[in-house]
Amino acid sequence: MDFFLDTALVDEIRAGLEMGMVDGITTNPSLVAKTGKKFMDVVKEILDLVPGPVSIEAVSEKAEDMIAEARDISGLGENAVVKIPMTEEGLKAVRALGEEGISTNVTLVFSPLQALMAAKAGASYVSPFVGRLDDVGEDGMSLVSQILEIFDNYMFETEVIVASVRTPTHVLTAARLGADIVTLPYGVLKKLPKHPLTDVGIAKFLADWEKVPK
Ligand code: E4P
Repeated sequence: MDFFLDTALVDEIRAGLEMGMVDGITTNPSLVAKTGKKFMDVVKEILDLVPGPVSIEAVSEKAEDMIAEARDISGLGENAVVKIPMTEEGLKAVRALGEEGISTNVTLVFSPLQALMAAKAGASYVSPFVGRLDDVGEDGMSLVSQILEIFDNYMFETEVIVASVRTPTHVLTAARLGADIVTLPYGVLKKLPKHPLTDVGIAKFLADWEKVPK
């Protein structure tokens, strides 16, 4: 399973890359706003820094405007992926962009049928938002399971990015279900290598090492 970082903060990306755990990046307008930097400056810096795919969101609402925006975004780097919201206009744009060879990530997916339509339109990726579903009392990971089942039934090549991840349990369940990718907030990535028994074990070994004659 690939790990993407869900951030536009370059310091987090550098730290994740040093850990060897960043296969790609997803951003969205809210994450870019948090940087306080100009959109183009942030995007270019991330595209240069990360060898893998970097999702950058189009903010237009009409298909023709999304397509124009996507062409600009995709021209910024070979690893640029254009995030398109899951709407009828978005589906039209995804179809047209696929024909031009531009990679797309259909975002704000909250139902299996939305994911099916995105895959039929030729999306490179779909992003089911699991945390936001959990927030309203639904089961986000059940959505991922249904999408994977459908994509497997019809051998779609569209990859599933588990998004809106809030906890290590989301990551574990994604891996057990066989999701292609999880996109992680940096805080969740930092939690994954930790286990209290590892810390206890290290403390005990270091204490015993002090007793070893040298
Ligand atoms: C995914 O591509 C989105 O950027 C992200 O995962 C949204 O997460 P949130 O629900 O924590 O905002």
